[in-house]
Amino acid sequence: MKTIKQLLNDYMEDSAFGRHPHQSLYEPIDYIFSLGGKRMRPLLALLSCQLFSDEIKPALPVAYAVEMFHNFSLVHDDIMDEAALRRGQPTVHKKYDTNTAILSGDVMLLYSYKHLHRTDPKYWPHLLPIFTDVAIGVCEGQQLDVDFEAKTNVTLEEYLRMIELKTSVLLYGAMKMGALLGGATEEEAEFAGAFGRNMGIAFQIKDDWLDTFGTQAKVGKRIGGDIVQNKKTALVIKALDLADEPTAERLRHLLSTNPPAAEEEAKIAEVTQIFADLGIPNEMADLMEVYRQKAQDSLDHLEHIEASRKAPLYNFLEELMAREH
Ligand code: IPE
Ligand code: IPE
Ligand code: MG
Ligand code: MG
Ligand code: MG
Repeated sequence: MKTIKQLLNDYMEDSAFGRHPHQSLYEPIDYIFSLGGKRMRPLLALLSCQLFSDEIKPALPVAYAVEMFHNFSLVHDDIMDEAALRRGQPTVHKKYDTNTAILSGDVMLLYSYKHLHRTDPKYWPHLLPIFTDVAIGVCEGQQLDVDFEAKTNVTLEEYLRMIELKTSVLLYGAMKMGALLGGATEEEAEFAGAFGRNMGIAFQIKDDWLDTFGTQAKVGKRIGGDIVQNKKTALVIKALDLADEPTAERLRHLLSTNPPAAEEEAKIAEVTQIFADLGIPNEMADLMEVYRQKAQDSLDHLEHIEASRKAPLYNFLEELMAREH
């Protein structure tokens, strides 16, 4: 695992930007990358390749492409979510300005394709449609997420579909493309992809949970940001399901208002208290467990792959369940 991370870091460092106009277009890209992040998606691509091959270097361009795409999506997501903090530091549109964040994000999206093309050309007909469908899916999910801010009756099914698009498809794509570059058959690569998809759903539920019940120092984002934005997270949907009618009514009211900045903390505190009283953290743990199990089952389907090759992915899944950032 350590060598894989080293390999990834060396590759990413090699591909750093030094182009013009530096300050307004490329520096924000260096900035968002310099803030770190868990690098989960590239690691998944490499570990998926390793399921099928001892040679993981062919998957490095795809690993970088998915991380580049992810960072692009974060920069634009923070504009859409009006978020001021990311990875413990000012978001790109706050540090620079919104136009800079839009265009630097666009360039990142295009660079992700540039990296994809550093793979062996014989894989391009397989990789390009996957990557493009992933990118389209993320946009669809992001738009649904925003549309849901103005809705009060989002169902669990609608929510799950939305997070599958905005978050899971990229993990699916990372796993599937990594597997193909390791020599997997289409069927094997689909099982690897399904691991990523199910893991991604558990991952986003945890992200929602951390947004309310995490600590800013660890999460690096504003705690309560989803509540301020009236996001219809898993917490909200479960709470509306479990609450008595007066509490549900109050919650629906709170999550359809946009109070002045000075009153945001009071809104966050009241909604958080409702979640806590309803035992939402335990409910979230149960929901995550469903998708953790599905992810494990997906990998178990690859019966002929040695246990030692799957172990890092099972460990990854366990770490994800326990993560605090
Ligand atoms: C945040 O992703 C965006 C979501 C899809 C929830 P990560 O939690 O992987 O962000 P970094 O890359 O580690 O900062
Ligand atoms: C973001 O979901 C998903 C993508 C960036 C595509 P969130 O809006 O919940 O991510 P965070 O919490 O800001 O990282
Ligand atoms: Mg968002
Ligand atoms: Mg966000
Ligand atoms: Mg979030």
